[in-house]
Amino acid sequence: MAQLLTHPETMKKARAEIDANVGTTRLAEEADMASLPYIQCVVRETLRLRTVGPVIVPHEAMEDCTVAGYCITRGTMILVNAWAIHRDTNVWDAPEEFRPERFWDDIAGGGAVAAPPMLPFGLGRRRCPGEGMALRIVGVTVAALVQCFEWDVGDVGAVDMAEGGGLTMPMVTPLVAVCRPFA
Ligand code: HEM
Repeated sequence: MAQLLTHPETMKKARAEIDANVGTTRLAEEADMASLPYIQCVVRETLRLRTVGPVIVPHEAMEDCTVAGYCITRGTMILVNAWAIHRDTNVWDAPEEFRPERFWDDIAGGGAVAAPPMLPFGLGRRRCPGEGMALRIVGVTVAALVQCFEWDVGDVGAVDMAEGGGLTMPMVTPLVAVCRPFA
């Protein structure tokens, strides 16, 4: 919601997609997500830029291995900086910018043009088992919030996007937003 509030054009496109594919006579539901690729792009881009777990929980190398020329000895604790990987300028075009469109060809094109790999849910055997559920629930929740309400930042005037510290990355200033039901 913070990303949408700071990017009104994105909010407008998201609402237009919902209006065109769900309408106003019923609430957006999970089955609608397949026909809401732009909302999926918004969720994906938010997970990239505002990585929920910026440093993946510690893993341990089960055997000696080499990663990018570095020798990792069995038993070493591995900390993966997903935040930095998601902002790597060698991989992403203008990584500091919130651009849901960067996932369009991948999501709307059914994976024909794959977006660069990212790891908001970790990778490998210990990858988040809740990924499928999370993507569906977050997507349909955002869709319903955008469908039902008009949003603005109220008297505060601007959203403070400063990132705080922690295992899951909080906003330094919690988001305050005003919503009004559509007449
Ligand atoms: C947007 C929502 C979510 C995000 C960003 C997220 C992210 C993550 C990340 C980064 C990990 C660590 C993966 C690794 O060690 O490589 C993880 C682990 C895990 N997640 Fe999620 N998660 C989300 C939602 C969920 C949900 C909805 C569930 C359950 C219904 C869930 C259950 C778990 C469990 C059980 C683990 C531990 C897996 C293991 O260590 O074997 N997560 N998640």
